[in-house]
Amino acid sequence: MKYLWEGWVNLFQKIGMLVADYKEKNGEENLINIWSGEPDLTPPKALQELVAKEVMIDDQKIHTYQENNSKNRLNQNFIELNSGINIDEYPHISSQLIPWEKTTLAMLPISCGANRESTEVDNKWFMVWAPAYDIIRTWSEYLWEESHVWPMYASENFRLNIDNIPDWVKPRMILVVKPWNPCPVWAQRDEWIELIEYCIKHKIRLVNDGAYTALTHTSHVTLTEVAKDYPDLEWMELFSMSKTFSACGWRLAVTVWSSDFISELAKVKGNTDSGPFGPLLSAMEKYLETPQAKIDAKKNQEIYQKRIVILREVFEEFGLKPACETDAWFFMMFDCPKSINWEEVENSEEFNKKIITLIGVVWVPFTGQRGEQFIRYSACYDAFDEAKIAKLREVLSRVTISY
Ligand SMILES: Cc1ncc(COP(=O)(O)O)c(C=O)c1O
Repeated sequence: MKYLWEGWVNLFQKIGMLVADYKEKNGEENLINIWSGEPDLTPPKALQELVAKEVMIDDQKIHTYQENNSKNRLNQNFIELNSGINIDEYPHISSQLIPWEKTTLAMLPISCGANRESTEVDNKWFMVWAPAYDIIRTWSEYLWEESHVWPMYASENFRLNIDNIPDWVKPRMILVVKPWNPCPVWAQRDEWIELIEYCIKHKIRLVNDGAYTALTHTSHVTLTEVAKDYPDLEWMELFSMSKTFSACGWRLAVTVWSSDFISELAKVKGNTDSGPFGPLLSAMEKYLETPQAKIDAKKNQEIYQKRIVILREVFEEFGLKPACETDAWFFMMFDCPKSINWEEVENSEEFNKKIITLIGVVWVPFTGQRGEQFIRYSACYDAFDEAKIAKLREVLSRVTISY
């Protein structure tokens, strides 16, 4: 017997199937994988060494459940590394250690009273147009709740424009992703101020998924930097170690927040997991106390920044047209071409499928709110390796695209 709906395959699972098929027919070595947002680098050496030491400590306390307890200044240091803000200076702001962001995002609908009508605020779900990270939408479906889309447009450089929020939608929570995935766009102070004022006025909780913050150049303004001055706002910003320190498998992230939101998510979280792996926690705590952490994060940021410059040139030579500025250095969005090898393609999903089948280059297709078609690539490809770039150029030269 089954209880969930059948046949639901997400975008990434679909791409995974095409990739598996290509690998089987052509060999893994012929695949050029630039779709995933998963760092191809490994965690910094100093951090790895610390973890190795901690694992060998023969003390039960380090190997047991860690619950929600962060150690010493781990949260503060990581938040400061991402936002530049020392939260100790703001007594109304708290933080919490969380497992992966993804798990925490899944808990947000329940933490905002999903399917409970008898709440003070009669608002519904809502989320920003960010198809790569539809966790809230999926969970809303699981919970039989409503979620809506706040459209962002390439013509506005994917700016957070509150005029695009439909009047009739009353969300309990707005989730945004800045710096964005899939659009490589950062946030500015005035965008946050406008959105914060809107959220206070309409009693909306505001969440920013800031997974890519530490890898973005310094002009990006975090929600924390602005929200700290609005004690009436219920907000939360999440920062993850996954991308910052190329440690996707480590299950470590930190969230910073204010107000009632903290107690509600903490309750749900306490009933969901029992904290991270102890040796990682103590190692991260020690590592973040050293200046090396900032140096390593900056180094990663520079790697992606330089890679994007090289890759963008290759793709523009190939004929792709950027859909927006690339000012957050991890992804890049292009308008999807209309044809490949003089054959029309219906949409970006078909384009991606054809490109994978013809030359084994894997991107990610996206559709905008007005049906706009985009493709995205990530900078998780070693663009400093000349042989790899030559191979990419050669493979791309085998097909012709046009708009
Ligand atoms: C927007 C966004 N948020 C969060 C994550 C994942 O963060 P974590 O590894 O902490 O779950 C990703 C990973 O792809 C992402 O793209």
